[in-house]
Amino acid sequence: MCGIVGYVGSATPGQRPLEVLVEGLRRLEYRGYDSAGVAVVTPEGLVSAKKAGKLSNLLEELDARHLPAGTAGIGHTRWATHGGPTDANAHPHLADGGRLALIHNGIIENFHSLKRELAETGVTFHSETDTEVVAHLLARAYDDAENLTEAMRATVTRLEGAFTLLAIHADQPGEVVGARRNSPLVIGLGVGENFLGSDVSAFIAQTREAMEMGQDQIVTITASEVHVIDADGHAVEPKRYTVDWDAAVAVKGGFSTFMDKEIHDQPQAVADTLLGRAGEDGRLELDEMRISEAVLRSVDKIIVIACGTAAYAGHVAKYAIEHWCRIPVEVELAHEFRYRDPVLTEKTLVVAISQSGETMDTIMAVRHAREQGAKVLAIVNTHGSTIPRESDAVLYTHAGPEVAVASTKAFLAQITACYLLGLYLAQLRGNKFPDEIREDLAQLHAMPEKIQRVVDNEEQVRAVARSMKDERTVLFLGRHVGFPVALEGALKLKELAYIHAEGFAAGELKHGPIALIEEGQPVFVIVPSPRGRDALHAKVISNIQEVRARGARTLVIAEDGDDAVVPFADEIFRIPQTPTLLAPLVSVVPLQIFASALATAKGLDVDQPRNLAKSVTVE
Ligand code: AGP
Repeated sequence: MCGIVGYVGSATPGQRPLEVLVEGLRRLEYRGYDSAGVAVVTPEGLVSAKKAGKLSNLLEELDARHLPAGTAGIGHTRWATHGGPTDANAHPHLADGGRLALIHNGIIENFHSLKRELAETGVTFHSETDTEVVAHLLARAYDDAENLTEAMRATVTRLEGAFTLLAIHADQPGEVVGARRNSPLVIGLGVGENFLGSDVSAFIAQTREAMEMGQDQIVTITASEVHVIDADGHAVEPKRYTVDWDAAVAVKGGFSTFMDKEIHDQPQAVADTLLGRAGEDGRLELDEMRISEAVLRSVDKIIVIACGTAAYAGHVAKYAIEHWCRIPVEVELAHEFRYRDPVLTEKTLVVAISQSGETMDTIMAVRHAREQGAKVLAIVNTHGSTIPRESDAVLYTHAGPEVAVASTKAFLAQITACYLLGLYLAQLRGNKFPDEIREDLAQLHAMPEKIQRVVDNEEQVRAVARSMKDERTVLFLGRHVGFPVALEGALKLKELAYIHAEGFAAGELKHGPIALIEEGQPVFVIVPSPRGRDALHAKVISNIQEVRARGARTLVIAEDGDDAVVPFADEIFRIPQTPTLLAPLVSVVPLQIFASALATAKGLDVDQPRNLAKSVTVE
């Protein structure tokens, strides 16, 4: 989820290319902010500057070291996936003796094998990134083709994964070449100049005339022309449109809030988190896992430590890992963990889940765990943050920057990473055969499309939420993996709409909470699949009857085709049929949409709720 901008203008060198790149990067900074860089083609050749940290670090560098006038350029703000946020890992990456520059958004799944292939031909690398591998591959193709467009077309045929690529070459000062697969790239049309961007906010300050690009297409822009070809080199006529968003909305991808944008980002966040996790033989490879297989085989207990939404992801992980691996899993709130004198040995694997990687409660729990001799694995979304740096190993989620304070796409990415961890342990310890692992991975790879189907049905949920904007309290019931989903649904409503909400295990109802049920009391119920665990489904149906009989308004999340719920549901929000343990990836989505829509109906700020911070960096 990096920010990308490209520009070609007058053949007379000037400062315009750099000005457009910097303006674009400012508007893209929300997409990724752990490093930034630019490259410009000038009559003296190709010049570039890049710095780790915020965009302001790059701007200071440019103030200190002015780049000469140029005619074309590319710019990048990075959200790290491979390689931490350092100057060397920042984009652009150079090749061909500094005559070619490349920037990239996405994940190249097969970069390890390509890097080995290039290294064997004597290529030396200066970064840990997958992007630099592509830069050298492109340079080699350029030597053969002596045409950047053809070189790009040849290069992308070698790549697996998701990418938006932009490249410039000193030999071709009047053009920028781009390519995309499973990652966004849009064309901006100017007068005597043209633009490229990861989204329209990259160039909306310059033009509202745009063109969209299809999968595996290559674009070449000059000051006066735009040429798009498909993977076979055939010319393509891209669809032209006028951007009717204002700049503020453009930064949110056309959505009115980051919260809504990020709910819609969830299929991609899950897909990106799954990218590059399996080798060519279909076996799981977690390449950041720096804990030896022998140690992982010896693990006799797992303790998940996290806070808030991240802790609920841990609760989902508990059900999956215990079922797949037969390892006992405890889930501890990080701020409680070290005060209860937990029993930790060298055979305890502590899993620290955190979107920001900077939650102080979780950092302190990680330090305590390591002092007690436990191994710590971090599941984190923010590259190079404190928690992975202080852990023995890390499994990064690839949700991209999560700007809204209330977590949505990071939550789904955390759950996905926990499934990967569980399957990896099951593979390592022999609990699952390779064919079972492949089948489970195939089911995971089918989840983004199922999540998309739930998101596409959002209007039904929004309409119900708007009708409930004056409610004062809402309850959430779930069993098995539906229980942490109920907890997360309640948290979303508390955080966003500031109304009392409580999630609890449906089986707990008769042990007290049922006293809360009165006429009209809204109760969400997450219903497990009728095809799943034995009596779970029937028991939840009876729970719905119990609350309905006492006057509750029942809002039911149920699978397509589950008609058993119909007689007892005032509202039914359908989710696609899904394996029992993977259901949270779809069943939480209506609850996220509900909370966002109800808060919006109340006129509240869903991106920056009162009293909350995106990362709680104090204990
Ligand atoms: C989620 O909606 C909340 N904003 C909060 O519970 C958050 O999940 C928690 O503070 C943990 O943050 P982290 O994932 O960055 O560690």
